[in-house]
Amino acid sequence: MDTITSATEMTALSREARRAARRVGFVPTMGALHQGHLSLVRTACAQSDVVVASIFVNPKQFGPNEDFARYPRSLESDSAMLAAEKADYLFHPSVEEMYPVGAASWVTVEGISDKLDGRSRPGHFRGVTTVVAKLFNIVQPDLAFFGQKDAAQTAIIRKMVRDLNFDIEIVVCPIVRERDGLAMSSRNIYLNDKERKHATILNRALMRVQMLADQGEGDSRRLAAAGKQVMSEEPAVRLDYFEIVNPDTLDPAADTSGGALVAVAAHVGSTRLIDNIVLHGREVHARPR
Ligand code: PAJ
Repeated sequence: MDTITSATEMTALSREARRAARRVGFVPTMGALHQGHLSLVRTACAQSDVVVASIFVNPKQFGPNEDFARYPRSLESDSAMLAAEKADYLFHPSVEEMYPVGAASWVTVEGISDKLDGRSRPGHFRGVTTVVAKLFNIVQPDLAFFGQKDAAQTAIIRKMVRDLNFDIEIVVCPIVRERDGLAMSSRNIYLNDKERKHATILNRALMRVQMLADQGEGDSRRLAAAGKQVMSEEPAVRLDYFEIVNPDTLDPAADTSGGALVAVAAHVGSTRLIDNIVLHGREVHARPR
């Protein structure tokens, strides 16, 4: 696996692959890789001829009081993991390479970027869509792989791709979890032993909602109330939101019959965690070829 730090070099390599009729698959990440990330790389390898993974801790998607400075960075072990998965290229640009002095352009997907995490983290999704649009222009992939773990992010990126005519197929891959149900996240390493135990409450709340939905409850207000009730059973965990929404628009869904995203965010100590499930539906899966 080659590590590329220059955007122009990355574009040239990708062009060369495409000219040779090879399908380029792209997995954008911020590093501190875990099995969730690697599942995307595996799916990318299965569906593409050339796989590019990027590691870039994007300053523009962190708020002023968020964890940009202390976000985990482990390039050496990340790089070994990507090589073991047989990724072809690691694109690892510097902040200056991605945002040269004077860069003043943003990509904003209006409306939807202010929902769920966008409401709690103003400006976050504008930072995400700006960097993902830039990465798409640099890597010029045929396919790009994202995790259902960040359900709002995938909805916003799918919308950006439609709105701006990116000729890229977005593949959404299922959430990879720890044995006890906790969704894998680079931020889980912030949790101490006690917090790690408390953190399972997010998944337990979602499981309660899933159970009620399986028993036939379709009213979002009642389902959300049941989920919130479970969240309140762990007083050390501070709920940010527990919402049932349309998975494409992120607007509230009154009932779940047409398919609904049940999304939760909460603070466990100083760590903000998110998780979700999709009810009735159109489960979002990596598409088999
Ligand atoms: P990051 O948090 O590193 O996540 C990179 C990709 O891995 C995202 O598509 C995310 O949804 C996916 N992922 C994370 N945990 C997962 C899990 N447990 N199961 C399955 N997939 C999982 O998301 C970002 O980085 C950034 O916002 C980025 C898109 C790279 C833009 O900076």
